[in-house]
Amino acid sequence: MAVSSHPIEYRELRRSDLPVWEKVVLQAIGLLERSTGLDKTTVAQFRTLGRPGLWAFLRLLRALGVAPVRVFVATDAGQVQSTAAVLFLPRSGYIAGVATDAPARGKGLATHVIESAHAAVRRRRKPWIALDVEADNETAIRVYRRLGYRETAEFAWFIGPTPGSSPVPGATEVRGSSLKSVVEWVDRQRPAPLRDALPARPRTLVHLETIARPAGAKGRTWALGPPTGIRAVARAYYTPMTQTGMVFVAGWEAGLSSDTLRGLVSPAVEWFREIGATRSVLVVPDPTGPWDDVASSLGLPRTVSTTLMIRATAG
Ligand SMILES: CC(C)(COP(=O)(O)OP(=O)(O)OC[C@H]1O[C@@H](n2cnc3c(N)ncnc32)[C@H](O)[C@@H]1OP(=O)(O)O)[C@@H](O)C(=O)NCCC(=O)NCCS
Repeated sequence: MAVSSHPIEYRELRRSDLPVWEKVVLQAIGLLERSTGLDKTTVAQFRTLGRPGLWAFLRLLRALGVAPVRVFVATDAGQVQSTAAVLFLPRSGYIAGVATDAPARGKGLATHVIESAHAAVRRRRKPWIALDVEADNETAIRVYRRLGYRETAEFAWFIGPTPGSSPVPGATEVRGSSLKSVVEWVDRQRPAPLRDALPARPRTLVHLETIARPAGAKGRTWALGPPTGIRAVARAYYTPMTQTGMVFVAGWEAGLSSDTLRGLVSPAVEWFREIGATRSVLVVPDPTGPWDDVASSLGLPRTVSTTLMIRATAG
């Protein structure tokens, strides 16, 4: 896709853009997506965008100002060169799928496309804008810093074949109304900027679930401590398409040993094994403390680090 001297147009994605857009947005797929299977589930989701009925529905949601996601592009002679999507969460816009076609990079396209997404977040009156980026993606981090984002938290992704069975007792599964106290506990554990922009909810304890949750799936939640008091919390999902189990650690009390914490994720790992997961992913806020020992005892090497960047919508 050569870059010509036509004026660049900044606008929202149209159905006719889909074939070229897909080639561009796939360039956003990095080690994180490839090592977790999110590359395959993402491509499957893109394919559903071809359905004409969906576009009529999206236009209606946009007109009503309630679309859950909007996708912005830069085009040159009608061809997509750069793209960024924004998902609307309760207190923030969450930017994802940022990519510029390789020959068109370094011309400010991504910066402008992301600014279009910012304007949409402003119109929806969300106070914060957030995104996650692989910690070693220096080019992207430089672009985001210039756009006002600051590194707010880091997450370590331990990924490997699902461990063999060696159950460790200790965790209780939390369901229904008991989730409320878990949500409150998780938020109390968090640094204020993270809590303000991306508060825990019963359906999304850790904001990363927003991108990692398989379509339509309900997570399972385990906690250490109930009923006397919560000491650690984890949320797990299984994705049949990629035979991948993911467990997100939402918080843990300081001083817990790696043996105790292994009991938190053990039921999730047992579930993954029984259900046929070939791959397991453990996601932990960094610094990981005793979790390095837990992960190595499960045979899950640290594979990727991601950085959560946040900025205020105003200013
Ligand atoms: C990160 C990315 C989206 C930036 O897109 P872009 O349209 O090149 O962004 P901009 O032009 O607005 O800013 C580019 C910055 O990259 C650097 N850059 C300059 N020339 C470049 C080139 N030819 N190629 C790549 N980067 C270049 C510069 O730091 C530039 O900033 P500057 O204005 O200080 O020189 C793009 O590099 C990309 O698609 N990378 C692969 C996918 C990816 O990493 N996505 C982010 C996932 S979170």
